Amino acid sequence: MLSYFCVWMLNRSLLVANAGDCRAVLCRRGKAIEMSRDHKPSCNREKIRIEALGGYVDDGYLNGQLNVARAIGDWHMEGMKACGGLGPLTAEPEVMTMDLTDEDEFLIMGCDGIWDVFLSQNAVDFARRKLQEHNDPAACCKELVDEAIKRKSGDNLSVVVVCFNSRPPPVLTTPRPRVQRSISAEGLRELQSFLDSLAD
Ligand SMILES: *[C@@H]1O[C@H](CO)[C@@H](O)[C@H](O)[C@H]1NC(C)=O
Repeated sequence: MLSYFCVWMLNRSLLVANAGDCRAVLCRRGKAIEMSRDHKPSCNREKIRIEALGGYVDDGYLNGQLNVARAIGDWHMEGMKACGGLGPLTAEPEVMTMDLTDEDEFLIMGCDGIWDVFLSQNAVDFARRKLQEHNDPAACCKELVDEAIKRKSGDNLSVVVVCFNSRPPPVLTTPRPRVQRSISAEGLRELQSFLDSLAD
């Protein structure tokens, strides 16, 4: 079983094609944007696709055997890939595209072991902090892996970080919460009648 994804960058366009439970996450000014969806058999869309192609999901496993819904390989497994590749286990990727902006800082591409112990935003926060310290994507990958081991992840921990700028992610000054000013309908009526009385 092999999950895969491909990432293309054409000028300022980012394209991610994913099949399986790897995940690509973009950091846009500190905010995590998921550029792929994990293809777990139990997620609704995959379950519908699987059942339409004659498969079933048992306790999160495709045909009771595999914990991914899309992958390359596994031709040896009974009932996974019918003739013409139209079995419940497909190798067809889902594709997402994004126009990169000046606020896009880096992309994290990680295997399931990373995402078992990091939420996307958590990984982005972690990587961002490290890149601000040393601005070294290779060191950042190692730190993500070490942290995942510390968090007792048992799965594949391959991870790649690609930075879009030569400078480290900027320190964000947290925007002050905006003061909400509102007026009740009753207050508005009172104000209106007050203004009307001035006009008289
Ligand atoms: C972990 O994932 C990477 C990337 O998909 C792959 O090249 C490698 O073979 C995997 N390792 C294991 C032990 O499965």
